[in-house]
Amino acid sequence: MTTLTKPGLRPANPNFSSGPCAKRPGWSAEALSKAALGRSHRAKIGKSKLEQAIELTRDILKVPAGYRIGIVPASDTGAVEMALWSLLGERGVDMVAWESFGSGWVTDVVKQLKLADVRKFEAGYGQLPDLKQIDFDRDVVFTWNGTTSGVRVPNGDFIPADRRGLTICDATSAAFAQRLDFDKLDVVTFSWQKVLGGEGAHGMLILSPRAVERLETYKPAWPLPKIFRLTSGGKLIEGIFKGETINTPSMLCVEDYLDALHWAKSIGGLEALIARADANAAVLDRFVAKSRWLGHLAVDPATRSNTSVCLSFTDPDIAALDADGQAAFAKGLVSALDKEGVAYDIGSYRDAPPGLRIWCGATVETADLEALLPWLDWAFAAQKASLKAAA
Ligand SMILES: Cc1ncc(COP(=O)(O)O)c(C=O)c1O
Repeated sequence: MTTLTKPGLRPANPNFSSGPCAKRPGWSAEALSKAALGRSHRAKIGKSKLEQAIELTRDILKVPAGYRIGIVPASDTGAVEMALWSLLGERGVDMVAWESFGSGWVTDVVKQLKLADVRKFEAGYGQLPDLKQIDFDRDVVFTWNGTTSGVRVPNGDFIPADRRGLTICDATSAAFAQRLDFDKLDVVTFSWQKVLGGEGAHGMLILSPRAVERLETYKPAWPLPKIFRLTSGGKLIEGIFKGETINTPSMLCVEDYLDALHWAKSIGGLEALIARADANAAVLDRFVAKSRWLGHLAVDPATRSNTSVCLSFTDPDIAALDADGQAAFAKGLVSALDKEGVAYDIGSYRDAPPGLRIWCGATVETADLEALLPWLDWAFAAQKASLKAAA
């Protein structure tokens, strides 16, 4: 039922943005009080914090011992670009994309790197491309969780263990909320401000032994700026994977990431983080199942994200509007919730179909999502009433 009466209860934390995401429960700036500020990141104290961030990441994500983990510049984008520019070109590449960020990597490889042998496997918002068409003897680039469509790969079963190419996976909105199958992944990237609610700035680059082997045996035909260079004299720069960052990191952001990792460990590690995201997504799923106006953008339930949940309008009057009309409707609804202080930043991504995108990652409290639901109905009813009044 939709109602114009405002619900009594408000989410204690209205932060449902898909990045930067809500800080962990109980976070305050006090968590940063032990940051190594005003000190060199290469001093013992700074270096040991960077190493700790790497080792806690390995521990919580269950990254296999032989894999390297590095902290790199320019957030997830930096990590992905480093991988694309350093590794691709040795063989043909299959680019797999089904939303805005994946499409961005396709553009880079086709229009910037201008690789000659590129095949594209693309699907529209809400769908996955046919993963059976991918040839894993070529290199493969894909996004584990499409943040702007709420569509993820269900697992790594589509990737053969005995592949000859490398798999390069942008996992920024999946890491710490979904099971990443590291045996099937040669490059995994993510940033700190997603599932753990850290701060934006730095990227994480995880390399399999096969990715390292490629780096040490293949030299791209194009020049690489210092910020992308992972090798020196044909050998991996091991220091990058021990906390000797290429350039200066923010020790404030590092401290915050450490705080998030300690919180993750304290609640039970990866399984607990996944369970929190699953429980959050289930709250929305139950709401959508009963809703007369909202539906999942992701068509196949097996591909529905438990972090960036994307929803579109199913109400016949709204669905009948053109894209601009739906976008205006969504904007009004989202801004009403924003004005009430009950939900911030829940509009769909600018390139995605009009609708809502509600972050369900581990730092979001289930009770806050539950408190948000009646407000969604309220905002829909209010927005529809003003649409009718204007007609
Ligand atoms: C799938 C995906 N890739 C890349 C990015 C860009 O990440 P960053 O801003 O950390 O570079 C995002 C940001 O939301 C994303 O969701």
